Amino acid sequence: MLGNFSYCNPTKLYFGDQALDGLKTELPKYGKNVVLIYGGGSIKRNGIYDAVVQTLGEQGKRVAEIAGVMPNPTVDKLYEGVEIARKHQADLLLAVGGGSVCDYAKAVSVSVNCGEDPWEKYYVRFEEPDCETLPVGCVLTMVGTGSEMNAGAVITNPHTKQKIGHVFRDEKIMPRFAILNPRYTLTVPRDQMVAGIYDIFNHICEQYFSGEDDNISDYLSEGLMRAVVQAGRAANRDPQDYEARSNLMWAATWALNTLLSRGKSTDWMVHMLGQAVGAYTDATHGMTLAAVSLPYYRHILPYGVKQFKRFAVNVWGVDPAGKTDEQTAREGLDALEGWMKELGLVMNISQLGATPDMLEGIAARTIIQTGGYKTLDREEILEILKESLA
Ligand code: NZQ
Ligand code: ZN
Repeated sequence: MLGNFSYCNPTKLYFGDQALDGLKTELPKYGKNVVLIYGGGSIKRNGIYDAVVQTLGEQGKRVAEIAGVMPNPTVDKLYEGVEIARKHQADLLLAVGGGSVCDYAKAVSVSVNCGEDPWEKYYVRFEEPDCETLPVGCVLTMVGTGSEMNAGAVITNPHTKQKIGHVFRDEKIMPRFAILNPRYTLTVPRDQMVAGIYDIFNHICEQYFSGEDDNISDYLSEGLMRAVVQAGRAANRDPQDYEARSNLMWAATWALNTLLSRGKSTDWMVHMLGQAVGAYTDATHGMTLAAVSLPYYRHILPYGVKQFKRFAVNVWGVDPAGKTDEQTAREGLDALEGWMKELGLVMNISQLGATPDMLEGIAARTIIQTGGYKTLDREEILEILKESLA
């Protein structure tokens, strides 16, 4: 651990099939006015909405709703929600849903008292809030993003074809509490479940494939990756396997709650490529990552052979005997590819709706990160996108 860093994560977690009881403990800490935020209606079909509304009623809360937060929430939806939260004089924003709903709640939180256009301020200029923000609580219903315990908020601007994540620096933007009941995830459709599993795995990769020092984060990452591979297989065999789904839920939270990134420069290029694809196609986040990952990793492998070899041996059990480091490293990526196919992930961007004429635009909107083993130029980005087409 050669870096200098601080660590603080204030999100209180309630985990298990009784986790909703935690809401009764948390709600009295906030004022009367709650804005309940949710997506397209899954929580009404599976009973989570009724359970949450009942608890809010028992606590005497005045509730306004922001319904219909779409996957990959848009800037127009953000403006709409800000008006509702302002009018209701919200004391607490309660997100009930997946990463999109949690992210959206954080975006509303930093925008309600913002005197400027939040898209321009937070997503174009990347500034931090200089106004009062609202507390966010989260009842998680879909696993993958880690949004329940981090300060990230990804918003899509369909007018400019940009999908941009802002990870706010101040930990008070992280949810104050998160209710993690694995049972709530059992109704998630299979394609969303596997996309979430890959999202978890890739969050770990994005942090792991960076840096050269002997770092505790890498050991934690390898353990988490092995757990996700195993639990992912079990959940894929039987999506009703509570134990597997609970392991995935806990792994997702720890994959992206700022722990693993301590002392790491972190890469995030798969996410930058995936988000640019998402801006053009509105495809499911985890699938966009799956579709660009292997071309990207095979491209940068020669610049980070040591870590890719370590990944092959420690995560996938590749035997390095009699092989060059690069051969071992490549076998690790082959093993990753096998697992991804086993899960049924989308392995190319064509299937997500990307066409060759979009590639220049997608490449131009891919934000270049510098923390990985190779800083890409635009030509390389275009090349990787072309390879991701098939
Ligand atoms: O809208 P409803 O009807 O609720 O349906 C949702 C949605 O269609 C459904 N769903 C969720 N829980 C369900 C369920 N269906 C049945 N039963 C349940 N229990 O699943 C669909 C997808 O939900 P969404 O919230 O969009 O998925 P996810 O959690 O993958 O979130 C994706 C968003 O998070 C961002 C992504 O870019 C994307 O915008 N990310 C946020 C990050 C962060 N805060 O750190 C990091 C990630 O890398 C990611 O970029
Ligand atoms: Zn992600």
